[in-house]
Amino acid sequence: MQIEEHPDPTWVAQLAGTAPSVAQRAIEEGADDRRLFRHLEREHRIEGRSHYIEIDAPLELFALVRLRRPRHVVEVGVSSGVSSAYLLAGLARNQRGTLHSVDLPKRAPAASRGSDRPSWSIPEGRSSGWAVPDRLRARWDLRIGDKRTVLPLLAEELDRVDLFVYDVPHDDPKSLPEFRAIDRRLPARGIAIVDHGSGGGLCPSLKAWAGWRGATPCRRSGTGLFAFRARGSRSRRVAPRRTGA
Ligand SMILES: C[S@@+](CC[C@H](N)C(=O)[O-])C[C@H]1O[C@@H](n2cnc3c(N)ncnc32)[C@H](O)[C@@H]1O
Repeated sequence: MQIEEHPDPTWVAQLAGTAPSVAQRAIEEGADDRRLFRHLEREHRIEGRSHYIEIDAPLELFALVRLRRPRHVVEVGVSSGVSSAYLLAGLARNQRGTLHSVDLPKRAPAASRGSDRPSWSIPEGRSSGWAVPDRLRARWDLRIGDKRTVLPLLAEELDRVDLFVYDVPHDDPKSLPEFRAIDRRLPARGIAIVDHGSGGGLCPSLKAWAGWRGATPCRRSGTGLFAFRARGSRSRRVAPRRTGA
């Protein structure tokens, strides 16, 4: 694992609706939590991983939680749990809120060993979120299953989703119904973040979703992460009906 070297306070400020200096301070608060970074690094080292597939902006996630003080965060794609850990660390500092995470773990092919093991695979004997410290798990609702099944269930159960983080490989047209389900619960000023892989471009589904909510997605510099902050009330902005995608 590497320390995140160049976090993007402008992106956080745009999404949180704060001044960049305020966003910068929230990012620094996350970066000062050396105990969390050291724990994650040690867990990855124990599993023989010098790196692991993880979100490019953990400090920005921490900062957004601190600044927006969400009641419910929904995250898709947990893997070892780097993004989960930083979201949970923010919730713990806030002393409020729950992280609802969805993951369908993938195992490495039986024949692969050591550095041959794909970085996205779950190590033997571990489960999704294996690197997350026990001390942060009290605010964690971790659900193992396919996002296509679990996201609609979460959208039924939760009265709101203040922050949505979608860090999972996606086939663009198939993600649209999942976004539509969450949109019903995304309040005004709610934030949606979608990872398109390193250097990936904005997918049409996120662009469409942001459009329904009167927003334009903005990119976290140097990454494939795009996000928007919803404007207006969801009750007055109705997503177009399904067209069979
Ligand atoms: C890019 S990794 C997530 C990285 C994580 N956010 C982090 O920062 O550490 C994507 C994860 O999504 C999981 N996944 C893939 N397809 C899925 C699906 N259909 N439903 C739920 N999770 C899925 C993978 O097994 C993997 O754990």
